[in-house]
Amino acid sequence: MSTSSQWSSRLGFILASAGSAIGLGAIWKFPFWAGANGGAAFIIPYIVFTFTIGVVLVMAEIAIGRRGRGSVMNAMRQVGGKTFAALGAFAVLTSFIILSYYSVVGGWCVSYLVEALSGNVAVESADALKARFGDLVSNGYTNIAWHLVFLTLTCGTVVLGVEKGIERLSKYLMPTLFILMIAIIIRGLTLDGSWAGVLYLFNFSWDSVTPSAILNAMGFTFFSLSLGAGILVTYGAYLPKENNIPTSSIWVAVLAIQAALLAGLMIMPAVFAFGLEPNAGPGLVFITVPMIFSHVPFGAVFAVLFYICLLVAALTSSVSLLEVVVAFMHNEWRMSRRAATFTCWVTLFFLGAVSALSFGVWSDFTIGGRVFFDFLDYVCSNFMMPIGGLAVAVLMGWKAWPVMAEELSTACAYSPAVMKTIRIAIAYLAPILVLVAIYQGVFG
Ligand code: PFF
Repeated sequence: MSTSSQWSSRLGFILASAGSAIGLGAIWKFPFWAGANGGAAFIIPYIVFTFTIGVVLVMAEIAIGRRGRGSVMNAMRQVGGKTFAALGAFAVLTSFIILSYYSVVGGWCVSYLVEALSGNVAVESADALKARFGDLVSNGYTNIAWHLVFLTLTCGTVVLGVEKGIERLSKYLMPTLFILMIAIIIRGLTLDGSWAGVLYLFNFSWDSVTPSAILNAMGFTFFSLSLGAGILVTYGAYLPKENNIPTSSIWVAVLAIQAALLAGLMIMPAVFAFGLEPNAGPGLVFITVPMIFSHVPFGAVFAVLFYICLLVAALTSSVSLLEVVVAFMHNEWRMSRRAATFTCWVTLFFLGAVSALSFGVWSDFTIGGRVFFDFLDYVCSNFMMPIGGLAVAVLMGWKAWPVMAEELSTACAYSPAVMKTIRIAIAYLAPILVLVAIYQGVFG
């Protein structure tokens, strides 16, 4: 293989994994989640979790995929046997559930893109922006309709086999999104009163270091790296041997953190400068960004560009979730990829519709004090993904460490000290941190 094609294959893998990682998690969830969980008290554990257990779990998932091949269930079976195969199936369920509500937020992005295209998005009045978001989510019909549009785009991408096209597109759009975010940050920081937002985001106080903030930080680490849901196992199956797993994993983590931090800096200063509420919840990005665009020259044009980038970022993530489920149905249930995708389209439509309605007519229906959408996100991020990660850690740290060691060293031999550190991280640190965070978060 020539050097140039090796490069392109390595880049292709990093792009696909980073494409899965960077999406609505960083841009939509991180800003309001960091705000709601105490700023630095959330951000510091998030970064620490990412560079300790996050990176090694990314490595372990890729190693399982590359060794085991096929769907996540098959790969786990090949590497770990029957019990781990069942845990692989659990990861498929996690991906399925996440996609159902992810698609609702994806729908909001489509709706804002359409607004931007009609030139209506950059509005200066905070009340009008709040009302627009409120109308969108509380009106069951429109909310479900946009969810259906996004879900159809996701399923269409998989059925038509144009993932490669989307990935290639994201090679240009991801850097564009980063540049746009930096431009918005600069604009935001030059507004009067914006510094309070930076302080709000990065202010550290011990009082905010609560068990639930730590659990949420861990949950967000899993969510933002697409961990514990079979994604990287499924993608790892296509990875050539000469690809260096540790370097790719670090790249994915760095890009994911960078996206989240940029998004936080894009939103919070503007929130304070415009006198918006940092606790506006899921609507924060959708209310703040249009307001910023109303304060820049050619804002309407940039808004279109921004929402295109956001939509593609969301699609590369939703496609990765769907891939896990479709690969499983194709492999285990012998369904054609087309039939599998169609089945997902129908079932996810209904499950997602319940989440969509939980912002409107069904907002009174709560589980543990959370509306259905929030409940699913809470369970998936804080429990199901970490449990999937736990399974991966036990498998690769204990049962199949030799496989892990071999897979990590296919492209480059690491010193015994490096390998030992990775082993300690995967075999001890990851399981302990996950279990303690879950225990404390629930009973603490
Ligand atoms: N990491 C994606 C994001 O932050 O938007 C969301 C996601 C994708 C979560 C895949 C989980 C997953 F398995």
